Amino acid sequence: MEVIITRDYNEMSLKAAAIIAEQIKKKPDTVLGLATGSTPIGTYKELIRLHKEEGLDFSKVTTFNLDEYLGLSSLHKESYNYFMWKNLFKHININHENVYIPKGDVQDAEDFCHWYEEKIKEFGGIDLQLLGIGSDGHIAFNEPGSSLMSRTRVKTLDEQTIRDNSRFFRKEEEEVPRFAITMGVGTILEAKKILLIANGVNKADACAKFIEGPVTSQITASALQLHQHVTVVLDEEAASKLKRIGYYNWVRDNKHLVQKYLGR
Ligand code: F6R
Repeated sequence: MEVIITRDYNEMSLKAAAIIAEQIKKKPDTVLGLATGSTPIGTYKELIRLHKEEGLDFSKVTTFNLDEYLGLSSLHKESYNYFMWKNLFKHININHENVYIPKGDVQDAEDFCHWYEEKIKEFGGIDLQLLGIGSDGHIAFNEPGSSLMSRTRVKTLDEQTIRDNSRFFRKEEEEVPRFAITMGVGTILEAKKILLIANGVNKADACAKFIEGPVTSQITASALQLHQHVTVVLDEEAASKLKRIGYYNWVRDNKHLVQKYLGR
């Protein structure tokens, strides 16, 4: 796991967008896994800028989103479908047919989850998965206690997540859906590369636990320790409870020293 500590939210967003842009340039038909929430908004803004000002081309890119609230149609202003179009897709040249987001208003959610998993396989799997992290250590909506082998399914949201996300809903906690469709931890771990971003002091505990603590279903992000290609980009606040900050910063600043041994 590579841990990159950045000064602030802006630097975190620029770094994350640069990693995604590099992936798209290397493989124009990249399959991206995408997240919603407040963390990736700056990353998406920078990707939009790279598209508009530097010609970053999304025309062959396919995307799969992590999750969606169950019971919300894609027209609902707090749905993750709505979020993705507003904050990214309508500003870039992505082919609309290549956008996959779980549907919150499906008749048969189980059937849909199975279809979603198959669709990801059909595209050869996810090349680069972008993740945020919940203050309870969740990735996607894999709340504490989720199986680390779980697949796309319906999940009941934790009280903490409902409290955290109530800020987006007009009538506060009453209106936050209790259920979501989410990719499982097992689904996420099958992505070829993973990029997790986190900012702010309210993520510091979760980050310390998932990066330096034991692998446990109580902090589902800790399962990323089992993956071979994970990059974590944090701001200083989110990194503030890590014990090995000196090591991570040394590695970040001295990458050039090892290059000559790697044959790349
Ligand atoms: C959203 C998602 C969630 C969020 C997490 C952090 O698609 O999968 O796991 O990444 O809840 O949310 P924010 O960024 O709003 O703090």
